[in-house]
Amino acid sequence: MKKFAAKAASALCAFGLGMALTASVQAATDKEAIIERIKPVGSVCIQGDESCGGATAAAPAGGASSARSGEEIYTGKCAACHASGVLGAPKFGTNEMQLRLDEKGMETLLSHAINGFNAMPPRGTCSDCSDDDIQAAIDYMLEN
Ligand code: HEC
Repeated sequence: MKKFAAKAASALCAFGLGMALTASVQAATDKEAIIERIKPVGSVCIQGDESCGGATAAAPAGGASSARSGEEIYTGKCAACHASGVLGAPKFGTNEMQLRLDEKGMETLLSHAINGFNAMPPRGTCSDCSDDDIQAAIDYMLEN
């Protein structure tokens, strides 16, 4: 009889422990679920940042800003003025941009392109272009 009681007690004990474990696992799962639910929708990823995973940063994201080619940005945003030289914009397909590069250096060209310069609007109206995107567009103009 005593033996049985001891057995029953240890069985109960094991059962209790099991319940406690189950409960804490459940709690941990709930916590994860909550964290999952309240975490930010997106995370900011600077192009080339290792923590975003080099591969994803380099691949076309299909999203708003990153990973467009200089040609795409030029065609979409800069060509409006630079294709024909509107308002004295250095004209695409000529050496006008190259002459400016020789005269001022890339740092000045880039900062003028980003911040605006006379009739050149800031970022060439491409408000979602990163500095790298602007640089790529300038490089594209210089190459052509
Ligand atoms: C609304 C017309 C317009 C658009 C759009 C435009 N530009 Fe310009 N850009 C100009 C004009 C005008 C100038 C010449 C400014 C001057 O020399 O007074 C210029 C000059 C520049 C220069 C030379 C700046 C310097 O210091 O001489 C760069 C570089 C440049 N643009 C880059 C870009 C890029 C890159 C884009 C597209 C993302 C772009 N532009 C879109 C009008 C435009």
